[in-house]
Amino acid sequence: MNSSSSAVPHHIAIVMDGNGRWATRRLLPRLAGHKQGVDSLRRCARACAERGVGVLTVFAFSSENWNRPADEVSGLMDLLAKALAREVPDLHKDGVQLHFVGDKASLSEKVRAGLQQAEAITAGNTRLVLNVCFNYGGRWDIAQAAAALAERGEPITEAGLDRAMALSHVADPDLLIRTGGEMRISNFLLWQCAYSELVFSDRLWPEFDEAALDEAIAAYASRERRFGKTSAQVQKSSRSASVQT
Ligand code: IPE
Ligand code: IPE
Ligand code: MG
Repeated sequence: MNSSSSAVPHHIAIVMDGNGRWATRRLLPRLAGHKQGVDSLRRCARACAERGVGVLTVFAFSSENWNRPADEVSGLMDLLAKALAREVPDLHKDGVQLHFVGDKASLSEKVRAGLQQAEAITAGNTRLVLNVCFNYGGRWDIAQAAAALAERGEPITEAGLDRAMALSHVADPDLLIRTGGEMRISNFLLWQCAYSELVFSDRLWPEFDEAALDEAIAAYASRERRFGKTSAQVQKSSRSASVQT
């Protein structure tokens, strides 16, 4: 473990990519990959809780995913509604506090009510905070935060924007993982990932298992997080912290 970061990240964010390819390789419709992706998320959330991760934030549907074929988009909306009905009781039992993050205005009334109900049921849970980013875009988030400040007549400052951002209930991600082999952010947490450690995995999301998660956490633990300082400064302050504890 590197002296300047704790072994297990407090907040992990994941771009869950590769569902379509997983299905296509098996000659299945893309939606079969998305269904498998829900199971993979369930497994990943459980594994994160077991490892002491406090917050898991996942990218489930981007602002740009509306541009996919209509049948895939409607399949994903149906899958969200079904996954809610099927998974929320178990997540609640496991102590997961659910949040849905994104522009809810363009979701159907029925889906919106389902999301709200799931959040209300799990609000008191403390084992793992699970943020599901659905109809989310990093640019949308920054713009909506700025609009909220403007509407209240507040000055546009970093601290003000931070408080108005959709993930203001959690600290910034320590580790950002993208599965599926692509090395890009695709408009995910543009503001919040300013100092996140990035790990790219070639595994497709449905195949991202506990071993792959442990590999990503091990890569994170080997990094030195400097936040603009020099390596010597970071090592000095972590030495004096370990003397105190
Ligand atoms: C990610 O998997 C899930 C969503 C974007 C909804 P993809 O559907 O992008 O899978 P690939 O990248 O086509 O394999
Ligand atoms: C990013 O994946 C969005 C989600 C995982 C929800 P995409 O598959 O949409 O990203 P691009 O289009 O390859 O950049
Ligand atoms: Mg993709």
